[in-house]
Amino acid sequence: MHEFSYKDGRLMAESKALQEVAQRYGTPLYVYSKHSVIDHCRAIEGAFDGRPHVTYYAVKANANRTILRLIAGEGLGADVGSKGELYLARTAGFLPEKITFSGVGKRDDEILYALKEGILAFNVESREEIEVLNQIAGEVHLRARLLLRVNLDIDAGGHAYVSTSLKQNKFGIDWRDAREVLTWAAGLPNIDVRGIHSHIGSQITREETFVAAARAIGALVEELRGAGLLVEELDFGGGFGVQYHGFLSHPKIPAEEPEAPHLSAAALVRHVIPVLAGTGCRISIQPGRSIIAHAGVLLVRVLYRKETNEKTFIIVDGGMNDLIRPSLYHSHHQIVPLTVTGAAAEKVDVVGPLCESGDFFAQGRQVPRVARGEYLALMGAGAYGYVLSSNYNARLRPAEILVDGDECAVIRARERLEDL
Ligand code: LLP
Repeated sequence: MHEFSYKDGRLMAESKALQEVAQRYGTPLYVYSKHSVIDHCRAIEGAFDGRPHVTYYAVKANANRTILRLIAGEGLGADVGSKGELYLARTAGFLPEKITFSGVGKRDDEILYALKEGILAFNVESREEIEVLNQIAGEVHLRARLLLRVNLDIDAGGHAYVSTSLKQNKFGIDWRDAREVLTWAAGLPNIDVRGIHSHIGSQITREETFVAAARAIGALVEELRGAGLLVEELDFGGGFGVQYHGFLSHPKIPAEEPEAPHLSAAALVRHVIPVLAGTGCRISIQPGRSIIAHAGVLLVRVLYRKETNEKTFIIVDGGMNDLIRPSLYHSHHQIVPLTVTGAAAEKVDVVGPLCESGDFFAQGRQVPRVARGEYLALMGAGAYGYVLSSNYNARLRPAEILVDGDECAVIRARERLEDL
């Protein structure tokens, strides 16, 4: 579900032609569709069928203030992973009682800031963190509510860098130790144990994986309650996968087979809710990608064609400093022209301008022939795109634009030399 489509050979975001947007604001450029963001929030909320719950948007996926305001406006909460994200979430209008704080390495000043903001809960990941939380809360005469992140030792598949629930991963506390740790934590003077949390990984597309995790966590809740512990909240994390291949189709651009057909994020959520609801806990989830990935694209312009004896390179003006996912995880983003010319497709590497062979967007990809000055879009770039961008090579971060119908607005200005 998204708002990008071809109309008379021109790629549109909602009712706006992206070529015009690229010409007006320059490239590289992130462009988001407002209605896609809203639709994704509503689809996920709809999956709960009116059951009481909270959806915490994982701010790390895209932390643009305007995007955050839109999501807060849809009634979602926020899961933050740092003081900076907490600050952004608060200034974007998320209420503290709808904010959780996740992450293995919370600094003392971050804990203090979050306590003073009065956030709903800390998702804690180690004994030492619980001790520090108890101590800091005591110093400022506040109580810290916590959910214990458990490591379920489940292989969620996908790229090793985004798997989080294997026993060799740094995340969470072994589920077998949860009872002992929670019993100890519940006895600490400044801690309120509220429940448990898990987040098994990212870009997971198999419903069986989620259902298995939900069953495992349901059984754990039962065990903990049997031991006399209070488990009121159950936060199931995020990780609901989206389709990256075959995002768009047009008779004159190479067809891409979607990756193994899979359910939408909302359908994945729909599968786990009944399993989790059986626990009687208040349920929450923390989707990031499934809300924002399909709502954004990265626009780039062709600088040069370079034909070597080996290959044809299409050198574009955006690189791994703007969108690192292909370099870091070999992630696939469909690459399409902003204007369909009808040119035959050719096999190319689409690469950035940086001095690294890992600076590529696609390798050996069929793309309609493009010439210097033409524009391309990398689809599905709304999540983990801008947030992972850098100033490597002293390159300026791109601007971000929000399209609403046939209007568009700058929601973050392009960096200037003075910002370096
Ligand atoms: N909750 C926690 C505690 C997380 O660590 C994450 C993501 C999420 C929720 C949201 O997961 P999502 O629904 O977006 O899958 N940079 C990688 C993804 C890293 C995910 C990190 N944690 C990528 O570009 O694929």
